[in-house]
Amino acid sequence: MNTEGRILQVEGLTKTYGKNGTTTDALRGISFDVLEGEFLGIMGASGSGKTTLLNCIATMIKPSSGKVTLRGNDISAFSGSQLADYRGKEIGYLFQEFELLDNLTAGENITLPLALHGVTGKDAEKDLRQIAARLDITEVLDKFPSQMSGGQKQRVAAARALISNPGIVLADEPTGALDSKNSKTLMDKLSAVNREQHKTIMMVTHDANVASYCSRILFIQDGRLFHELRRNTATETPASFYERIVTVMAQLGGGSANVL
Ligand SMILES: Nc1ncnc2c1ncn2[C@@H]1O[C@H](COP(=O)(O)OP(=O)(O)OP(=O)(O)O)[C@@H](O)[C@H]1O
Ligand SMILES: [Mg+2]
Repeated sequence: MNTEGRILQVEGLTKTYGKNGTTTDALRGISFDVLEGEFLGIMGASGSGKTTLLNCIATMIKPSSGKVTLRGNDISAFSGSQLADYRGKEIGYLFQEFELLDNLTAGENITLPLALHGVTGKDAEKDLRQIAARLDITEVLDKFPSQMSGGQKQRVAAARALISNPGIVLADEPTGALDSKNSKTLMDKLSAVNREQHKTIMMVTHDANVASYCSRILFIQDGRLFHELRRNTATETPASFYERIVTVMAQLGGGSANVL
């Protein structure tokens, strides 16, 4: 199979929650590719299946049918150390509510994924310094989560997602708990990581401003692909891309109120 340029392929993915009486078809057959180095946005109304999609890719839940392949390898066939490597080294996950451990400092939270894979001491310290400088959190590394602002906490969570140098970063509404200033700071940092390190990012968002940082956006409705937008990175202004995003949002599910 020719997988050149593609890091991830999602083919005919379905997910039905529940059994017998009450079932929910969260994904009804979704197919798309994620290209190496792209910043892919996922938008859609609440309940349209965005988190389910991310969780299937992260192997946090099992799809009902269809498959996800990473560089040509079917991830459902992974088990044991292969699965642990996939989760620990290929995927970085960034959550809306940060999910930092309260009793660890920022620095300890960030290096936890490295420690789990046996990287400690000087190597871990060097990686930590680099990623902290990139995300502008060097001065909070010794603080506990309760002593940090929301924006700082999310940049610490982003550093934790990035420190293992994963193949792909999955972000589920990473700005959902942030104000607009902190959202912009986080997006500026994430898009710099995407551009300068060619890091592949797949991000769910409800916010057209946040989405306008993406190079491509998939719109999902009721568990199916509804529309796709590509930013013309060479010529298109952020304002023009923003306008196009808002236009599609207005068409989705009868109006942008449903999406926001
Ligand atoms: N564990 C579960 N058991 C049963 N139904 C679920 C479960 N998780 C999600 N669902 C249902 O599946 C559908 C898709 O949910 P999902 O969380 O993927 O939506 P979403 O697009 O991420 O929504 P939001 O924007 O509100 O986060 C919804 O109808 C939801 O109620
Ligand atoms: Mg969700």
